[in-house]
Amino acid sequence: MKKIVILSSLAALVFAGTVEVTGIRQSNLNNGSENLKKIEYSQALPIPGQVKLYKKSYKTAPPMIPHKVGHMVPIKVGKNECLMCHMPLHAKKLGIPQMPEDHFVDNFDKDKKQDRVAGSRYFCTTCHAPQANVKLAVQNHFDRVRVLRKKIYGK
Ligand code: HEC
Ligand code: HEC
Repeated sequence: MKKIVILSSLAALVFAGTVEVTGIRQSNLNNGSENLKKIEYSQALPIPGQVKLYKKSYKTAPPMIPHKVGHMVPIKVGKNECLMCHMPLHAKKLGIPQMPEDHFVDNFDKDKKQDRVAGSRYFCTTCHAPQANVKLAVQNHFDRVRVLRKKIYGK
């Protein structure tokens, strides 16, 4: 019985490669990302220094970027403008949120703390997402556990 299940899931995997899956991106999954339909969105976000921070969804979540990122992305090796403001030394002077200590710990080298940002944290937008007004393709019903509990149990 187990064998049949395994074989049929293998077959499903093999055949999946030939099926035209387009989904929300409206382009075959085997295509590169070059010719994707551009998503229209409003970039009318304030420049850094004029916005309130977003509430975190849960304690250890990477905070969302509340300000415009415009020309700062894509971040490239040797070109990271985020550091100009968020490196602790600069951030302290400017009185803005600074990168926490764990952003300077190299997990690939005995968890050593270093002066420069750890390689695994260099590309900030892997974790910190800028926000935009878009027409959602799929509604997002994510909620904090506390909020959900209140909705379900009323306390
Ligand atoms: C010109 C300075 C400046 C630059 C450059 C900048 N920021 Fe910011 N950032 C701020 C300020 C100021 C705030 C506080 C909110 C505000 O007033 O905009 C902030 C807030 C944030 C926050 C929210 C922190 C929290 O605790 O909620 C994140 C995350 C962030 N920025 C990430 C980035 C990333 C990633 C980049 C690069 C793409 C970047 N910032 C570039 C000034 C800057
Ligand atoms: C691997 C994911 C990841 C990457 C990459 C990353 N961060 Fe973070 N960042 C987090 C998480 C998770 C938190 C919240 C936890 C914490 O405060 O330690 C955070 C917190 C922050 C905060 C808020 C600190 C506060 O006190 O409110 C700032 C500012 C920030 N990061 C800036 C940056 C910048 C700038 C970069 C790029 C140089 C970056 N981060 C790269 C995950 C990441």
